[in-house]
Amino acid sequence: MGFVYGCLIFLIVSLCYLDIEGRTFLVSNYSAYPNDNIDDTSGIQNALNDAASYGRNNIVLFESGTYDCFGGFTIYGATNLTIMGQGMYETLLLGHRPSGMFWIQGINTMLISSLSIDYDPLPFTAGYVVNATSTYLDVQIVPPHRPDINRQVSAILRYDPTLMRPAIGSRAYEVYQTPPNNANTTLVSNGVLRIPVAWQMYFGIGDAIVARYVSTGHVISGQSLTNITIKSVTIYTGWYMALTFKVAGLNVIDFHVKPRAGRWLSTSADCMHFGDARNYINIFNSSCEGQGDDGLNVHAYYYKVTEIFNSTALTLTEYNWPEVLNVGVGTNLEFVSGQQPFVGYATATIVSLTGNGGNSKLFIFANPINASVGDWAVVADTPTVTIRNFTAANNRARGILLQARNITVTQSLFNQTSGPAVLFGASLYWHEGPTARNVTLDQNVYISCNEGIAQGNGVISISPDLIAPVPVITNIQITSSTFLNGQYSKYPIQSSNGGGVSIRNNYFSMKNYSNPIVILCNSQNISAFNNTVISNASVISQFVTYASTGACNSSLSSYINLPDSAFNASFRPPVIATSLGVQINNF
Ligand SMILES: *[C@@H]1O[C@H](CO)[C@@H](O)[C@H](O)[C@H]1NC(C)=O
Ligand SMILES: *[C@@H]1O[C@H](CO)[C@@H](O)[C@H](O)[C@H]1NC(C)=O
Ligand SMILES: *[C@@H]1O[C@H](CO)[C@@H](O)[C@H](O)[C@H]1NC(C)=O
Ligand SMILES: *[C@@H]1O[C@H](CO)[C@@H](O)[C@H](O)[C@H]1NC(C)=O
Ligand SMILES: *[C@@H]1O[C@H](CO)[C@@H](O)[C@H](O)[C@H]1NC(C)=O
Ligand SMILES: *[C@@H]1O[C@H](CO)[C@@H](O)[C@H](O)[C@H]1NC(C)=O
Ligand SMILES: *[C@@H]1O[C@H](CO)[C@@H](O)[C@H](O)[C@H]1NC(C)=O
Ligand SMILES: *[C@@H]1O[C@H](CO)[C@@H](O)[C@H](O)[C@H]1NC(C)=O
Ligand SMILES: *[C@@H]1O[C@H](CO)[C@@H](O)[C@H](O)[C@H]1NC(C)=O
Ligand SMILES: *[C@@H]1O[C@H](CO)[C@@H](O)[C@H](O)[C@H]1NC(C)=O
Ligand SMILES: *[C@@H]1O[C@H](CO)[C@@H](O)[C@H](O)[C@H]1NC(C)=O
Ligand SMILES: *[C@@H]1O[C@H](CO)[C@@H](O)[C@H](O)[C@H]1NC(C)=O
Repeated sequence: MGFVYGCLIFLIVSLCYLDIEGRTFLVSNYSAYPNDNIDDTSGIQNALNDAASYGRNNIVLFESGTYDCFGGFTIYGATNLTIMGQGMYETLLLGHRPSGMFWIQGINTMLISSLSIDYDPLPFTAGYVVNATSTYLDVQIVPPHRPDINRQVSAILRYDPTLMRPAIGSRAYEVYQTPPNNANTTLVSNGVLRIPVAWQMYFGIGDAIVARYVSTGHVISGQSLTNITIKSVTIYTGWYMALTFKVAGLNVIDFHVKPRAGRWLSTSADCMHFGDARNYINIFNSSCEGQGDDGLNVHAYYYKVTEIFNSTALTLTEYNWPEVLNVGVGTNLEFVSGQQPFVGYATATIVSLTGNGGNSKLFIFANPINASVGDWAVVADTPTVTIRNFTAANNRARGILLQARNITVTQSLFNQTSGPAVLFGASLYWHEGPTARNVTLDQNVYISCNEGIAQGNGVISISPDLIAPVPVITNIQITSSTFLNGQYSKYPIQSSNGGGVSIRNNYFSMKNYSNPIVILCNSQNISAFNNTVISNASVISQFVTYASTGACNSSLSSYINLPDSAFNASFRPPVIATSLGVQINNF
């Protein structure tokens, strides 16, 4: 026995020793030197390859300065790999091609830290329209944007250079187009760029616009990942989204996406987008500003039941891309009715999934499900999402879009998001879900959100895409927050298919506006208590209204406890935004 224990202790000591020992791979040892204007791509890739293949706990280390990258990096199959610069303002990876920066796959534990990423040339340009015809737009480019020639423009967004955000109210527009291959940007005269357009639509002479080129690569992306940490990283721009993973366990700390030095946009699309994430997503001390789409989107995917063999064997079909069907044995799927969108009726555990390629797989479940063809299934094992001290500002779409269960968002600032600051969706158009449950939104500040191109009916918008007759997004606490509505913000809170929504201790400032605070559609158990409402327009005569369009029917809402007395308190804003983040208002 003594001998066996001795061996065990020896083994454990050796394993621990191996765990601590890791090598540091200096990129400068692979001829990747900063600030020399020489292509560092292959040097950095070689350092990454060696670090990933040489066992665990290794570090790839950059020096201070700018590294020139003419292509993206790939990392496969590492364990506890650290990629580290000297600091967000010290180490810069500068991409010179329209591609992603890091693709990571099959990694257990990774830290990317202390560096920033930018691109030159930029994935967009911007300026003022000087001429508009049915086939092109001439734009006087405003520096630091450049008149990039021979580019394909896929989206044109109206910008408001005074408010430093995408245009709002009736001034907002955006055009998407699929440009033909022979219709690229050309130079008309000094600083004037000609952008081919598919049709003359909204453009007026003098309009400020941002023109995005065709999207080509996410800055940091990957799949089959466990325990990923992004810490002290700034991304100034990127040719698609900044951060997008399929990951089990994610920490995003001191991560920032923001426009650099006078630019009108940061990344072309979302700041963060996590499809089918598991375990947890923590986002602390981070910000998403000026990106071309959502700040954060967390969701799983809806699959359609397309064939039934017996009570435990079904074919499921996806409509996003084939990879999303690889959800893993042991995962729980929630089944929802095809007749009543998003109404769940069963949960089942996967014991096997087979099928080679294509958009369908055969799923075998541990327990029988009484499914019908046309029903939908979605991963029920959503991550716990915890967001603290996060800023979403001046982006083109939603602040955060949450389709998960067990969510906390606190001390966060939503400043001038074009669409809802917080959207609880589920969409059979995008095939994203499931419907959110158990959400706390506490001590947040919402300033002039939901005024632009992605506008919904509420700054906080509970709004599945396909309305059911009954609540499907449930247990939402909206507390101790400050809402400073802008002129076009619409309702502070929209509840379509909401259940168990509690609105307490909030401050609502309805600038020049007399809209009700809450708009309801097919909701139940909605209550409010101790809220202050300030309006410098006319007196608000009612605090709740019922939507009557589409599938909304006021007779389908019940247990609504929103009396006037729940909105007649007179305290000052409970929290305010400062340069240090959201703080309790001590007056
Ligand atoms: C530098 O790289 C060479 C070959 O890749 C390797 O043998 C050497 O140990 C490295 N030195 C350091 C300090 O990393
Ligand atoms: C991961 O690697 C880093 C760097 O070598 C090391 O400091 C850390 O202890 C490792 N973590 C684990 C869990 O082994
Ligand atoms: C997750 O990663 C972080 C940072 O790399 C590390 O400190 C931590 O030990 C890891 N956790 C697990 C469970 O491996
Ligand atoms: C606008 O385009 C038309 C047609 O090409 C041209 O005649 C006119 O001079 C242009 N105006 C400006 C301000 O460039
Ligand atoms: C237009 O630009 C695209 C992307 O930049 C490029 O692939 C294509 O070859 C260009 N077309 C022409 C006619 O140069
Ligand atoms: C919030 O995060 C920022 C970094 O984005 C940090 O500077 C600040 O100290 C944080 N504030 C709090 C209260 O944690
Ligand atoms: C966020 O920032 C605050 C203030 O700088 C700091 O105390 C806290 O540790 C940070 N949070 C994380 C998770 O790093
Ligand atoms: C259901 O069908 C699957 C696949 O054809 C089969 O493996 C399984 O044994 C069947 N189960 C029952 C209860 O019939
Ligand atoms: C939400 O939290 C509860 C309580 O901790 C837990 O039982 C449940 O499994 C969680 N839901 C998900 C989807 O993780
Ligand atoms: C709600 O979520 C929190 C974490 O966000 C968790 O601690 C709590 O147990 C959950 N409650 C329920 C009823 O699931
Ligand atoms: C909101 O964004 C605008 C435009 O960038 C900025 O001027 C303002 O200071 C921001 N507000 C807060 C509280 O950060
Ligand atoms: C009402 O809300 C304010 C602001 O959140 C808070 O300070 C106060 O304690 C609350 N009053 C009651 C009676 O809950």
